[in-house]
Amino acid sequence: MESKTICLLPGDGIGQEVIPAAVEALQALHLNLMFVESEAGFACFQRRGEALPEETLALARQADAVLFGATSSPSTPTPGYRSPILALRHELDLYANLRPIFSLPGEFSRAGIDLLIVRENTEDLYSGRERREGDTAIAERVITRRGSERIVRVACEQARRRAAARGRPATVTIVHKANVLKVSDGLFRECALQVAAEYPDITFNELLVDAAAMKLVRSPQSFDVIVTTNLFGDILSDEASALVGGLGVAPAANVGVGTPVFEPVHGSAPDIAGRGIANPIGAMLSAVLMLEMLGEPEAGNRLRQAVLATLEDGIRTPDLGGSATTAEFTRQVCARLQ
Ligand code: NAD
Ligand code: IPM
Ligand code: MN
Repeated sequence: MESKTICLLPGDGIGQEVIPAAVEALQALHLNLMFVESEAGFACFQRRGEALPEETLALARQADAVLFGATSSPSTPTPGYRSPILALRHELDLYANLRPIFSLPGEFSRAGIDLLIVRENTEDLYSGRERREGDTAIAERVITRRGSERIVRVACEQARRRAAARGRPATVTIVHKANVLKVSDGLFRECALQVAAEYPDITFNELLVDAAAMKLVRSPQSFDVIVTTNLFGDILSDEASALVGGLGVAPAANVGVGTPVFEPVHGSAPDIAGRGIANPIGAMLSAVLMLEMLGEPEAGNRLRQAVLATLEDGIRTPDLGGSATTAEFTRQVCARLQ
């Protein structure tokens, strides 16, 4: 493999624990990867007055991929602070967030689940257009034809790819709330149905987001690819992670125009940060998605299998009911890569 540069942005809290764990596993694969680490996040903001310094953004732009941990964002307006992951998605125009959820070996996971949430990543209530007018607060929900069409195309291409790999037909479920948000989700739905007409080989369903949330719990096995707007995708992906072990195991790929950014779905987990017990699986499976995107699917598969084999042997971090530390779990994964 020709040399690839991976920009590491561990960030805050358990980001500083799970990214080194994923890097250890990547190093055990003996690929031609070069790692460059840079700063981003709330601690960086407190130290330097900026959450995503210019040199970090420049390194991300130059790299072949970014591996991102998590950052902390205050829930109160903080002048000058913007979540670095939102800034990266915006700056690099990473308009699709791919969040696969699949069953894992262990009683903590439900069986027979193999779905992909394709979350629009740049629009919706994440527009940043929010304001107070006295005792009224207003947030603008931005949905565009361009944004809707391109995310649905990604979902359809992913559905085709998955169907070919699994030897079964493709299904895409369009999730929206057009019954209430008649104009904004009305446009998303209209665009989705138009794009759907270009894919006669795919079966399309549509669900209102509230019903989709219920069905995800009741019959998650019935889903293949779900495509939805930004905020609904954010919420549904955390919900879906709980079906297979929780936030500690869920990976994500932010893809689009610029350097792709791979990150676990979880946040900085201040409640467990610094204790060495964070589950590194979400970060490791994000590294698997990265290897697939870098044209190294065999290496990715080896890493995925090593994670699964470690779980099969009953080695788990506390969030999955075990007692392994991050370091011990990682050591066991690396041992299975030898
Ligand atoms: P969180 O994902 O950090 O934590 C939610 C719960 O899941 C906590 O109980 C935590 O201990 C647990 N958890 C999460 N990841 C885990 C792991 N790998 N192993 C074991 N347990 C894990 O969400 P939160 O508490 O709502 O948010 C904390 C901070 O993280 C906030 O500031 C939020 O803005 C930020 N956040 C950042 C990102 C990101 O940078 N991509 C994503 C989500 C949340
Ligand atoms: C995620 C996170 C982010 C989001 C936050 C940290 C801005 O929850 O990646 O799912 O809302 O997109
Ligand atoms: Mn989220």
